[in-house]
Amino acid sequence: MSFLLSTSRLVLRDWQDSDLEPWVAMNADAMVRRYFPTIASREQAIVEMQRFREHGERHGFTLWPLEIPGQTAFAGVVGLFRTPIEAHFTPCVEIGWRLAIPYWGQGYATEAARLALQYGFDTLQLAEIVALTAADNQPSRAVMARIGMQHNAADDFDHPRVADGHPLKRHVLYRIQHRDWCNPFMKHATESGHST
Ligand SMILES: CC(C)(COP(=O)(O)OP(=O)(O)OC[C@H]1O[C@@H](n2cnc3c(N)ncnc32)[C@H](O)[C@@H]1OP(=O)(O)O)[C@@H](O)C(=O)NCCC(=O)NCCS
Repeated sequence: MSFLLSTSRLVLRDWQDSDLEPWVAMNADAMVRRYFPTIASREQAIVEMQRFREHGERHGFTLWPLEIPGQTAFAGVVGLFRTPIEAHFTPCVEIGWRLAIPYWGQGYATEAARLALQYGFDTLQLAEIVALTAADNQPSRAVMARIGMQHNAADDFDHPRVADGHPLKRHVLYRIQHRDWCNPFMKHATESGHST
């Protein structure tokens, strides 16, 4: 069965072979990769896409392609994945996002992230979801804050895959617990009087 989560203006769905070219182009963009140690070569992007496809097949969740009907079949990726590093907060499930520049500044990352959180808590019944990023990545931290995640400086850490001394070495960790999560879609339905 194919995977699909949607709101009135966006869709998170399974990977398709046709995602390859826009995925490669997005990861070759130095602005998109500003808070990553390097841009990704075509070969590196192919390997990463394959890794996300396999993660989805194995676990039933992954970083999913974000489609904006009427605009683009591939605006970037948003989703959930098992954190691939060892750190003081692992093992855990992480939420993440990466959008191509034309789709920044329109609320798509936040809206899709709320969908992914809903899936993680309602369907997967996760107790906690975390997010991590380079300390200077304010746009990503703003998404974390908008979806209700909390930052505790005591959780900050040095990313083990970033070279010592690199300006992106220091990372922040945000967390959200199932018990603290308020389903925004359910809230909207309740406010509209359509839910019991
Ligand atoms: C991180 C990233 C996804 C954030 O993108 P973003 O566009 O800032 O976030 P959103 O899609 O949630 O959009 C929010 C903005 O849209 C605005 N907006 C416009 N129309 C909106 C609407 N209809 N609904 C909600 N927000 C809207 C918001 O006011 C907000 O603007 P602000 O940043 O000026 O306050 C993006 O910067 C990115 O892909 N970066 C590169 C990859 C990366 O670093 N990923 C994270 C690695 S950990």
